[in-house]
Amino acid sequence: MTERSSFVVVANRLPVDEEETPTGREWRRSPGGLVSALHPVLASHRGTWVGWSGGASEPTALPEVPAVVDGIRLHPVPLSAVDIEEFYEGHCNSTIWPLYHDAVEQPRFRRRWRDAYRRVNARFAAAADAAAAPGATVWVQDYQLQLVPGMLRAARPDLRIGFFLHVPFPPMELFMQIPMRAEILRGLLGADLVGFQQPLAVQNFMRIARHLLGLRTRGDLLETDGRRVRAGSFPISIDVRAMEMMCADPSTLERAKQIRADLGDPKIVMLGVDRLDYTKGIGQRLQAFRELLDEGKLSVPDTVMVQVATPSRERVEHYQSLRVKVEREVGRINGDFSQVGLPAVHYLHQSYSPNELAALYRAADVMLVTPLRDGMNLVAKEYVAARADNGGAVVLSEFAGAAYELRQAFLCNPHDVDALKDAMVRASSVDFADGSRRMAAMRRYLRSHDVNRWADSFLRALEDPPPVGVATVSGVSLAPVADARR
Ligand code: F6P
Repeated sequence: MTERSSFVVVANRLPVDEEETPTGREWRRSPGGLVSALHPVLASHRGTWVGWSGGASEPTALPEVPAVVDGIRLHPVPLSAVDIEEFYEGHCNSTIWPLYHDAVEQPRFRRRWRDAYRRVNARFAAAADAAAAPGATVWVQDYQLQLVPGMLRAARPDLRIGFFLHVPFPPMELFMQIPMRAEILRGLLGADLVGFQQPLAVQNFMRIARHLLGLRTRGDLLETDGRRVRAGSFPISIDVRAMEMMCADPSTLERAKQIRADLGDPKIVMLGVDRLDYTKGIGQRLQAFRELLDEGKLSVPDTVMVQVATPSRERVEHYQSLRVKVEREVGRINGDFSQVGLPAVHYLHQSYSPNELAALYRAADVMLVTPLRDGMNLVAKEYVAARADNGGAVVLSEFAGAAYELRQAFLCNPHDVDALKDAMVRASSVDFADGSRRMAAMRRYLRSHDVNRWADSFLRALEDPPPVGVATVSGVSLAPVADARR
């Protein structure tokens, strides 16, 4: 690469998908809030995105992706078949992912996975180094790349480095289990600004830094190697405007009508949209639905459930056993409660386009977002933004980051099946006045807290850190860090 960029994003995946078009296969910008929020900054700075293209390729052979897509310069990082197994499926998704999600599945620890995490993080750091102009801003994303800020800082002290964690940051009691714990923490501390989804994660981070590395903290600042690192809460959001426009399109509303008709025009459509992941609480949700049908509190065909379960990380064992459990439960419910041509649960183990999801949101009366732990959960925000008619209701887990903001949802503890059932019944029987008041309040909030505001507030805080002791970030709610004030 000859020309270097003044703004570089480093993420596990590149923001492009290869798609079949009438003229052949083409690379297109991926849908999704993160990419659309960063696109204007990247396009105006001739910015570069460093990431993996998704396939296996040998370290010396760069994957076949175009140099520029939609104004974003792409810098691919190759992962070999062994890297995918040991780094992506191993350390990222069998060690860190379960551990950062309250260990709802047992994390697995393997020494060769840790070596792969170091090796691949070093490759991403080298790629970012090559892409960044002197004094550039580099924004590193998520749990796959926690060593990158430290590695990049060592090679390039001239850079301004931000890091944002999209998933939860665990409490000390769990974090202390990771064999690489101090190394991960030092990796994160290579950044000037470390962003989290929630104030609680900031508190966990501060507490761990004090305990594990003996660092001094003050307000939202930590001191390490004579540098100041700031930690803050920046709850991510969605492109609200894009969702509103999609839902204002008559074809979306027509499709929503068609979906309801295809479901047999039930009184209540309950909808779940998740990656098929054990953190999403799909099993508990199905159990709650089955018990409600069993007790006669809901009945088929008046009520039907649609569960979209997008295939994900299919070679990882935890995900394979989850699929077996979920499909067994769907079969059991349908066996007990369906009628000919009228299934109780429509289970869709498929990926859907943003347009089809928007139509599903408009067709659903009750959106079930009941993860056991989730950094944010953007499906809840998408559903609220899709309902410009103020119809519908959201059942939302207290353990999703979104619950800190969407306070008018029917909040519940998904580990408590009775509480979950109660929330599902209340949401499905809410009267129109109460329901629309709740939806309108959440939509108002989201309009002023969209993904552009998220990206702006992070980048402003990264470029212009406030004086010591100031603990608010551009109007984003940041709870005082009680321990840090001692
Ligand atoms: O929530 C974390 C995350 O990495 C998202 O960024 C991503 O959409 C999702 O998990 C799926 O991740 P992947 O398919 O890359 O493992």
